[in-house]
Formats: sequence, structure tokens, C-alpha cells
Amino acid sequence: MAFDPTPFRAQFPAFDRRLGDRPAIYLDGPGGTQAPEMVIDAMAGVLRRGISNHDGPFAPSRESGEIHHGARVAMADLFNAQPNEIAFGQNMTSLTLSVSRALGKTWGPGDEIVVTRLDHDANVWPWVIAAEESGATIRYADFDPDNGWVVTVDRVREVLSDRTRLVAFTHASNAIGSITDVAAITAAAHEVGAQVFVDAVHYAPHGPVDVAATGCDFLVASSYKFFGPHTGVFYGRHEALEALDAVKIRPAPDDAPGKFETGTQSFESLAGVIAAIEYLASLGTHGEDRRSRLRSAMEISRDYEASLSTRFLAGLAEMPGVTLYGIDTAAGRTPTFAIDVAGMSADEVSSRLGEVGIFTWAGHYYALEVMDRIGKLDSGGLVRIGFVHTTTTSEVDVTLEALDRLAAGHTLDGLPVPG
Ligand SMILES: Cc1ncc(COP(=O)(O)O)c(C=O)c1O
Repeated sequence: MAFDPTPFRAQFPAFDRRLGDRPAIYLDGPGGTQAPEMVIDAMAGVLRRGISNHDGPFAPSRESGEIHHGARVAMADLFNAQPNEIAFGQNMTSLTLSVSRALGKTWGPGDEIVVTRLDHDANVWPWVIAAEESGATIRYADFDPDNGWVVTVDRVREVLSDRTRLVAFTHASNAIGSITDVAAITAAAHEVGAQVFVDAVHYAPHGPVDVAATGCDFLVASSYKFFGPHTGVFYGRHEALEALDAVKIRPAPDDAPGKFETGTQSFESLAGVIAAIEYLASLGTHGEDRRSRLRSAMEISRDYEASLSTRFLAGLAEMPGVTLYGIDTAAGRTPTFAIDVAGMSADEVSSRLGEVGIFTWAGHYYALEVMDRIGKLDSGGLVRIGFVHTTTTSEVDVTLEALDRLAAGHTLDGLPVPG
């Protein structure tokens, strides 16, 4: 049966927002999604009930410990990992900077680190800094706009050697939506003895993340991209975590995963993470336990989003004034589209859309290498339009009409509202 987003949309207070007489259309999911009521309630509930730091011998403190553990269990379910392989932090960038310092201490001159040109800068620059500090050399795996728009395992192999210590790459591009073959690249990296660090920040809301199946060593995500609060998540294979010296202060735990969590966690956010996982699991139609319901949920989400992509791409193909940068079919991509409207800057397009309540991003979205690779870094970047499972077909149609009008130099006055 086809997925109907209606009952899920109804759970998001943010969708009641209006701009004048127009409903808000959130197409900025790649920059951050909205939160369902259950996430908001869980976070407010923790603060209302009374909250204390964890590990003390009294009730609210014990509750914080339970929330902390519950969030690890929840994320382990989403990633098909174990709870002792999950650590939290402020956001993906902070976690990656911290882990890169720890890994960098194990590298030396002559070692090689592979990063890609498809990545957000948070999975490029921390490794460049750590390589510089340790004397290691950075090698870039490229993607080819004339040939698939993705970093293939073959492109990665071109820069692998027996000196490669780490391959850091994205699960999916937050700029152009291309999905990488995580299992194949991981296997190629492991063949030469390198470790693998995967950025799943953009991919996580769009499909199943499975660290057991792909075999990656480390993976990061951010809960505000999958309907939760602003908290980062770090997965590390337990033996890989145990083997690594975390950058930490003396009283912090010495064992994994706690040694990777700097300072006090946001317990209200962790309560929100648990609720976000429960929300996602509620999209699943089958499965005995939460882990399998989550897989079902993410497959349903992926398939529904692919139908939105097909519709959007068919519409774009009819618009000569709009150029797509990226894969032009629904396969192999998330529903995240970087586009250009002839004769207008990206900022101008986003601003005009924003005036009629269609929220999109413009610029480089921190994907500096991607924008540089396609020659858009110095010219204001591109407009980014992103769908998630709560996006409706009628929102897609209204957005297409808005783009068509802008490309034709028309106004957006009287633009239909989504039905
Ligand atoms: C693919 C990707 N990686 C990393 C980040 C950085 O995440 P955070 O904001 O949690 O530091 C983002 C944020 O947009 C992203 O889209």
C-alpha cells in the first residue's frame, strides 16, 4: 500500500505555521528537520519533572542515567549497533573534530588519509588538520559530474595504498544527494588495512543505516536531521573505540563509549533522541522489535521519497531555465536537489521562494569541495531543495510551479497553495 504522510504530518506542530495566508512548506530538511509533538513533549517533560546530573544516588539523577542509556539503546537500534558503541556530543562537527584528534595521534609521516570531494567540510577539514599535525598526507577521492555524480569504489581504490590509515567519506551528499556504496568502499579500505569513518548525517533520515552490514569502523549522525533535537551521535565498533585514546579530561570515564563524551550531556536532548527514534519506528509496518520496525520504517520512507524525486525530476526536465546538478533519476540519490535558475542568484531564488512560505537553502551548505568541483563555489552556490517523508506530492507540485514561474521571469503572486 502506498505511504500516506497525512497522519504523520499531523504530529508536527511546525506544519501549522503560516506566512500570511500561505502554509509553510519546509524544503530545508537537509539543513534540519522539524520535530513531532512526541519529541517536544519528551524534552519539555524532562525539564518540567526536575532534572539532575547523572550518576548521583537520588531519583532525578538516576533518571538522567536511564535517559542516557535509553538513548544509546535507541541509536543502536537505528544503526544496527550495540549500545556500548554509541556516544553523544554537541553535534557531528564537534564529535568528528574530537575523534580526528584521537585518531591523528596514531598517525605519522608517510601515512595517508583519504577524504572525498563529495563530503561536507565537517568530514574533510578535521582530517586535514589531524593529518597536518601528524605529518600524514591527505589524498582526495573525486566524483565525476560527467559520470554518475558519486564517489565510486574505483575512484577510492585509485587513492588507496598500503600506507592508507583512514578513509573518510559520506553516506550521502548533503549538497547533491548522491548515495555512496558504503559496504564496497569499506571493504576496499579494509583490504589495505585502513579504517573507515562514515558521515551519515545527510543519509540517516532517508534510508536504513546498518553498521553491521557495511562493516564501517566509525559513523556519525545528527539527530536534528532525523526529526530529533540538536545532538550529535557517534558510533564506533567497540574494539575500535577501546583501542583509541580519547581526548578527554581526567575524571571522565576511561572506557568506551563514555570516554568520547565530553562533559555533561544534554539529557533533555537525549530524551528527545529516544522520542525521535520511537517516532521513526512508528512509520514501520512490520517487525517484532524496534530495530526491525526501524528498518521497515526507513525502507518505507526511502521508497516514498523516491516517488517524490521521480515527480520532481520529471517536472524539472520540462523547465529549460532550471539546471539540476546531480543524478537525474530517483535511483542512487536522496530527495535532495541542487539547482540553478537561469538569470537569478541562488540567494535571490531562495528569498523569493521564502516570501511565499517555501523554505529552501542557498549557497554551499558547507559542502565546499562539492561546490568547488562543479565550479559554483565562487558564484554564490546553488539552491537546495530537500524532501522528507512528510513532504506531500502537492507541495512538490507547488514548488515546481514556483520554479517554473521564476525561470520564466514571472511573479509568484497567486501561487496555488498545496491541497
Ligand atoms: C552531510 C553533513 N555532514 C555534517 C554536517 C555537520 O553536522 P552538525 O551540524 O551536526 O555538526 C552536516 C550539516 O549540515 C551535513 O549535512
